[in-house]
Order: sequence, then C-alpha cells, then structure tokens
Amino acid sequence: MSNNFSPLGDLSVEEFLAEYWQKKPLLIPQALPGVVPPIAADELAGLACEEQVESRLIIHDGSSEHWDLTHGPFAEETFRTLPENHWTLLVQAVDFWVPEAAKFLDQFSFIPSWRVDDLMISLSGDGGGVGPHFDNYDVFLVQVSGRRQWEVGGVYDGRSPRRPDTPVMILTDWKPKERWILEPGDLLYVPPKVGHNGIAVGKDCMTCSVGFRAPSHGDMLKEFSHFVSSDLSEELRYADPDLKPQPHPGRISPEAINQAHQILRQYIEDKDKVAEWFGRSVTIPKYQEEEPTREMYSLKDLQTHLSGGEALLRNEGSRFAFQEHGEEILVFVDGRCFRRPRSQADFVASICAQRVIRFTHLSNTKEDLPFLLELVNHGSLYFPD
Ligand code: SIN
Ligand code: CO
Repeated sequence: MSNNFSPLGDLSVEEFLAEYWQKKPLLIPQALPGVVPPIAADELAGLACEEQVESRLIIHDGSSEHWDLTHGPFAEETFRTLPENHWTLLVQAVDFWVPEAAKFLDQFSFIPSWRVDDLMISLSGDGGGVGPHFDNYDVFLVQVSGRRQWEVGGVYDGRSPRRPDTPVMILTDWKPKERWILEPGDLLYVPPKVGHNGIAVGKDCMTCSVGFRAPSHGDMLKEFSHFVSSDLSEELRYADPDLKPQPHPGRISPEAINQAHQILRQYIEDKDKVAEWFGRSVTIPKYQEEEPTREMYSLKDLQTHLSGGEALLRNEGSRFAFQEHGEEILVFVDGRCFRRPRSQADFVASICAQRVIRFTHLSNTKEDLPFLLELVNHGSLYFPD
C-alpha cells in the first residue's frame, strides 16, 4: 500500500499533480530532511566498474569549453586519476543493483510505480555537471550529499540550437530563469523538455535522479503491432470483394484506403488488447537478467517458509502492476499477464505496492500461495537467504 508520506512538503499530492506535474518546475527545500545517500560514493564508483552497469563519466574543460564523455565499465584506475574538479560520474538504474536505492524510489510512490524508469545517481567534483540540456521525461532531482547549483530555463525541443561538436547535449541559447543552490534533502522537480543545468558546488556532490518512463508514440505503435500480429493468422489478408472497375489502373481509390484503415482500426479499437499489451509493456524490466539457475520451490516449501516467518522480497529489477477488468484482476509482472479472481483484489494491490511480502499479507492461502509460487519460481520474488 502506498504510505502517507510524500516528499512534497506542504503541498498535497493533488495540488502537485494539478499545478506542477508535467507542467512546471518546483523546488521543495528540505523535502527529505536528514536524507541518507542510498549508496556510498566509493560503492557508486565500484558499480561503474561493473560490466553490466550503465555508467558515464563527463569531464568539462572550462578554459577550452571541451566536453569529454566516456562510457563505463571503468577501471578503478580511472577514479584514482580523475582531475580535481569539473567531472561527473552518472550511474544508471542503481535501484536495479542496490536494494537501498530501490527503497529510495518508494518515497515517490505518489506517482504510479509503473511510470518510474530508474534511479540514476551522479557523483561530481567541484564544478562538475552535464551542461544545460533537456530530457524527454520528468525527473525528481534529490540532493543527497554536498551541494549543487541548479538552473532551470524555458521549454526546449529537438529543434533547439545545441553545440554540434559535443558528445553531450549542450543548449547554446541557454537562458536560466531561476537558480538555486540545493543542499542535502532539497528536491527539484523538472518536467519533460524544461531546460536545466546542475553544477556541483564543492566536492562530494551526490544527486539522485528519479527518472520516469515515457515511451515514444513510435515505440508504442511498434510494440503494440508486434503484440497483436504475433497471434494473427497469415490467412487474414487484405480483401476487396466489392472492387469496382476503374479507368486508371494506378489509382488507389478512397474505398481501398477505407479498407486499409478499417483493417488497422479493428486492432487499435480492441481496448482489451490495448489494455493487456500496455500492462505487459510497462512492466517489462529495464534490463532482462540472464536466466540464472534458481532453486525451484514447491507449494509446501513456500508455505513452510512463509508461515515460519520468512519474508519474500521483490526482485529489485521486477515490475508489478494491476488492472481491474470486469470480474477479474489482471496482474502484470515483468511483462507477463496473470488473470486472477476479484476476490484477490486486496492481495494483488498489496503485492504490487510492497517490496516485502509476509504471510500476514495473504488473505486466502489456497488462492494466494500458488500465485506467489509462480512468481517465486520465475524469479520475480525471492527469499533473501
Ligand atoms: C545530474 O545529476 O547531474 C544530472 C541529472 C540531470 O540533469 O538529469
Ligand atoms: Co537532465
């Protein structure tokens, strides 16, 4: 269940959504007082040395205005030989690798969890930053250690002038409208396309970015078409039994266009199909883990562990969501869809909200356990030991 805590200060969730979400930036000083960085600086650098982790190092030379971008994995040596200042290390999806970082995201559960993409964490030396740019998605920027100056500007897009010679996006007509220095616990919300520029003030500057998923229309259409077409018979074909004679053989008549439109429309208008595809799509994990060798549990094992007080944890990379659908609840876990009876609605809502599942969360062991077993044996839930 989402708890009542929100890092929005005096603002209610309703006010935030109506006034700011996807509309305008908002600074909330001391949104998370006493915030503890979800990872230590040296551990973050360690993660950036791992093969599977996505990371970038950006070094800015202020005198030549040269920007240098290197992608990880890095050698430990890289971090021992960094320049004194003007560098930023950015590590993507720290929540995928570090349970504390996954928990950090729970503070943002006033936005649907399936909208969240990842927790990126940056670590900078004095003056470090990625330059003035915009992103296509919303972001909550939380200062977790050190200080960073943030500037926010107007709305930019793909046509906005940018430096042609830099490996990172640097907007050239950058005109900040506001400027603040964020201290640990301060939070800045930036909507999609709003320009922003963060510059570390002093060393040991760590910033957490809660980034959201915003699939492009192009990707949505491609994915939906793929989902629908995988079930369609090759025998379903364009047909024109009402074809009329036409004087020009090369002409595509309005009737032919109507027919093509009608064929496509019937799939898009199938709302149940759209709903199922969407649930699957938004719960596909950011990274697919290679199929690990996993201990397989029986129903009896599961019951024994849970009733003995052990807790099941959600795999940090797993995504859970649900939809009410007539007499059923559709549960989406890691791109898979399960149809459960309405009687399981509370149980389903609670496992989609909680990272920890205990025996006490079960409402009906006969119905709930087999479903949990399926999730455990697929690796979406696990016993920590
Ligand atoms: C940063 O943490 O420095 C970059 C985050 C962003 O601008 O999106
Ligand atoms: Co940004």
